[in-house]
Amino acid sequence: MTPRPSADSSFEDVLAARLSRRDVLRGSLAAVAVAALGDAMIAPHARAASLLGFKSVPVSTADAVIVPEGYTADVVYAWGDPIGDGPAFKSDASNTAAEQERQAGMHHDGMHFYPVPMGSTSSTRGLLAVNHEYTDDGLLHPGGMTPWTAEKVAKAQAAVGVSVVELALTDGRWSVVHDSRLARRITARTPMAFSGPAAGHTLLRTAADPDGRIVLGTLGNCANGATPWGTYLTCEENFSFYFVNRAEKLPADQQRYGITKTGERYRWHEHDSRFDAGAHPNEANRFGWVVEIDPFDPTRAPVKHTALGRFKHEGAAMRLTADQRVAVYMGDDERFEYIYKFVSRGRHVAGDRTANLKLLEDGTLYVARFAADGTGRWLPLVHGTGGLDAAGGFADQADVLIRARAAADRVGGTKMDRPEWIAVHPTTGEAFCTLTNNASRGAANSPGPDAVNPRAANVYGHIIRWRDLDGDAGASTFAWDVFALCGDPAQTDPAKRGTVKGDAYGSPDGLWVDPRGVLWIETDVSTNTIRKGDYANLGNNMMLAADPATGETRRFLTGPNGCELTGITATPDGRSLFVNIQHPGEPASERSDPAEPQGISTWPDGPGGGRPRSATIVIRRRDGGVIGA
Ligand code: FEO
Ligand code: CA
Ligand code: CA
Repeated sequence: MTPRPSADSSFEDVLAARLSRRDVLRGSLAAVAVAALGDAMIAPHARAASLLGFKSVPVSTADAVIVPEGYTADVVYAWGDPIGDGPAFKSDASNTAAEQERQAGMHHDGMHFYPVPMGSTSSTRGLLAVNHEYTDDGLLHPGGMTPWTAEKVAKAQAAVGVSVVELALTDGRWSVVHDSRLARRITARTPMAFSGPAAGHTLLRTAADPDGRIVLGTLGNCANGATPWGTYLTCEENFSFYFVNRAEKLPADQQRYGITKTGERYRWHEHDSRFDAGAHPNEANRFGWVVEIDPFDPTRAPVKHTALGRFKHEGAAMRLTADQRVAVYMGDDERFEYIYKFVSRGRHVAGDRTANLKLLEDGTLYVARFAADGTGRWLPLVHGTGGLDAAGGFADQADVLIRARAAADRVGGTKMDRPEWIAVHPTTGEAFCTLTNNASRGAANSPGPDAVNPRAANVYGHIIRWRDLDGDAGASTFAWDVFALCGDPAQTDPAKRGTVKGDAYGSPDGLWVDPRGVLWIETDVSTNTIRKGDYANLGNNMMLAADPATGETRRFLTGPNGCELTGITATPDGRSLFVNIQHPGEPASERSDPAEPQGISTWPDGPGGGRPRSATIVIRRRDGGVIGA
């Protein structure tokens, strides 16, 4: 990912100018916030026994999924598997675009399990909503990208987006229900609506959609969220890679969001002109949103909620506020980007699904500013305040939301080390956020270390946590600390050893707190870094479990060669844990060689099978117990 430092002042400048330590103490915010936080963080859940009841697995370089003794891991939904009554997968990748549209997409990412029937606590039948983040066009087509044709672009567009697939547990095995009424694919061509302040705005209007209200498709579907009313939130991250603008000088906003002159990554623009951001400058404004999908109603169009802001959304972790509004914590995964929170205007009413489906249409977006003393503030991104006005270059609230990064610069958010997933502890309200890594921290012309991003050249990443005042997700202040600095204890440089209590890891990405309070951590060491240099000792990407109260961390799973671990969800009884293995076999170039598709991995089908395939796996205990306990 390209470093994209913005031109605004550094954390220290912001802190000095806007939040002097003296002001904080005089207002006693710090004392109040730290005291409130202390209830949960310092002596949180006194327990005699560890939360973690399994034996760690060692680091691994095996081309296999390895789980602890007493556990099983089975593939349940891999790229190309038919959804509903879709066509069978062809292992030479010769399925057509039309067939791909009725099969599992590529590169599984965030996901969530919804018990069926809706609102039940079934742990034997459910809908799995699964993101398909991007494609490896070296694997997706026979011959890879040579020649590059309109049919291949159409197949790639059918291989991204989201799956809703129905699963059932029969005789101890999970499998796809093929006569499901609810199974469907959402792709880069599925019509969806805009809601909120930017819907219909000039900046969202295109030749194909002069009203600026209907967009085709969702892109870069990375992490996710789930609402209490049973809908799925899919988050649009690296949408810029689909666009190209060959102009001599790109518009500032397109530069800020990472659109380039070459568009070499996916090359959709060569056969689909809407991805030419020179010819269709507003099309790119229609991506970078949080999208709500109703998995229980295939006739309801997905909705892009503009009130939650436009950036490279990683995930959307929801929690109800003390007065029953909904708060959504969100990361923007790029170097020196921000952490955001949305708080709805309306209140959640249990059981009123029609009303709850409107909650994300109206509310306030905030950006986080972390102070060095362990407190922080949520700064509102509201037109007419904080310099977000015509003089500051913002025409209206829609403009603030569409250019949320620029708005966050303007009000002085804290520039972070690539915020990935955020997870909220279900009882304490503590929010955890993975800051996956940032090798550019402290480099020339880049922000230096600060309290919340404390290491220069942060190659291993870290996890922070915060708790909004009084545990109320609606509060405008919070207290925070660093949960763990990742690293390798074998390193000679003390800064690279980290502070993890237990098994070592780096580049944390996926994150979830289960109902028992276990923090699950999934890693994404990039394929050009993994198993060499600073990562020589850490093996393949992995998943770990940590006890938030003690910091104790145990490695639970190691993945096959070239994969990252991402996506995590469980049945209500905690006895089936679903995890995604993304891009097994991915080479450092991030595009497989079509002449040798098996490359460094043959997972999951084995050497006698076809190409490596991203897949959802389900983890169970041989004794039927709760996972991790
Ligand atoms: Fe799609 Fe930031 O990971
Ligand atoms: Ca991620
Ligand atoms: Ca990542």
